Amino acid sequence: MPTIEISSQTGKDFSGDVLIVPVFSGRERHRLPLAISKVARQVMDENDFKADYLEVVPLHHPNGVKDSRWMILVGLGEEELVTHNKIRKAVGSAARSALKKGWKRVGIVSPSTSSLDHDEVQVAVLEGALLADYDFTVCKGEPAPKNFERVEVFTNGDDTRKARRRLPQVEAGVAACHRVRDLANTPAGDMYPEAFAELAQKLAKQYKLGIEVLAPEDLQKGNFNAVLAVGKGSARSPRVVRMEYKPKEKAKRHIVLVGKGVTFDSGGLSLKDAKGMETMKDDMTGAAVVLATLVACAQTEMPVAVTGIMGLVENMPSGTSYRPGDVIRSRSGKTIEVLNTDAEGRLVLADLLNYASEMGADHVVDLATLTGACVIALGDGVSGVMGTDQKLVERILDAGSRSGEYLWQLPLVEEYREGLKSSVADLKNISGTRWGGAIVAGLFLKEFVKTESWAHVDLAGCWSSSERDYRTSGASGEGPRWLLDWINS
Ligand code: BES
Ligand code: ZN
Ligand code: ZN
Repeated sequence: MPTIEISSQTGKDFSGDVLIVPVFSGRERHRLPLAISKVARQVMDENDFKADYLEVVPLHHPNGVKDSRWMILVGLGEEELVTHNKIRKAVGSAARSALKKGWKRVGIVSPSTSSLDHDEVQVAVLEGALLADYDFTVCKGEPAPKNFERVEVFTNGDDTRKARRRLPQVEAGVAACHRVRDLANTPAGDMYPEAFAELAQKLAKQYKLGIEVLAPEDLQKGNFNAVLAVGKGSARSPRVVRMEYKPKEKAKRHIVLVGKGVTFDSGGLSLKDAKGMETMKDDMTGAAVVLATLVACAQTEMPVAVTGIMGLVENMPSGTSYRPGDVIRSRSGKTIEVLNTDAEGRLVLADLLNYASEMGADHVVDLATLTGACVIALGDGVSGVMGTDQKLVERILDAGSRSGEYLWQLPLVEEYREGLKSSVADLKNISGTRWGGAIVAGLFLKEFVKTESWAHVDLAGCWSSSERDYRTSGASGEGPRWLLDWINS
């Protein structure tokens, strides 16, 4: 994390590599601090900069602010339409272009508008820059991290105290996002169940979290037969990790987070095609989100007890794989006819949700890259939410709006349960139709939940082949920020 400063100055005395100046379109350019507006106005005219939302223009200005010869103008669009999210994303885009130029010491002018609280704007500016400050370079021949060294926010006289007080939360949320990106971007050859569990152990020790790792023998004793079935084809054996965060004072409530941790999803014997497999090292994102969120809970001393359950397993085809037609007696006792070994996430979660239901939690929330159908429905920038407790679902959606991570509710249409009926077992793992696949998967999970207040979040859209605003290409790292917002609300 770079050194962070929030200063009430205008930015005109900034000395560093680049000053980022967010600008509203139209008349609002006059709102800029005077010393900056002089330079900015000239370059805006010369470069035909309209300040449209996400428009980014880097400028060299020999007569510019003090020691900084570079400035990046970034458009916020019309002032009437501005939101915290737009500010976060616009600053993120500018920060990405600064990073690509190798600029490491950045100043950012916090935009001033009467419709939003100053401190919230300052936080959004900072979040945008920090979330953008990421590149996955560990696999490059010469890993060259190009991270920021210093990020300074200039508020032009506005009070900085509230935003400064929020800094620990902001930093923990950003670090959690980056942790998820790291875990999901790491090749599956390095990030297999045991490796993930070892990393969890290391982090548990560092942040004083409770931890229990269930190895294959423990899983057998504990009847995690669905987890074991999915893992049967792989040379890398499965693990289930239970991690616990408890606040020092009496906890306000107890939340259990459950994460799908398929470290690679080849589809198993129902093998995916080459294209479908390309990104499947990210199929453990649910577990990564759970792990990163627990660490952030410890860092910020959250007043809520949080248990994380991560189901780590590799789905591979081989002579020992589970097969289409096999019937699994899941941990709950319900039997499942496997008709497609690629619908493996729901099998893993069946056992984990049954396990989670024993913990007497107030809420159980599972996170999983569960269905391609969810990406078809919502695209690669929105997660699907389903659940049995509408209030919980709405609180999750609200947390999403506040953090700028997009979530959308899908209905658990009871009629679709019909499709999961099996002639040989209690249910089968796929329905006979492709339609409504994300919902069908949600209905399957519901069969294994005994806690009244449950929500399921399908994270399948959390991977992108291209870079957008503060999001880098690859894993988006979404999840922990809205979760932390909800847990803290
Ligand atoms: N991990 C995939 C879901 C997925 C697909 C996530 C594409 C992100 C992008 C999951 O295990 C899966 O393969 N689901 C199948 C279910 C089907 C066989 C009912 C799918 O979505 O095709
Ligand atoms: Zn699959
Ligand atoms: Zn999967």
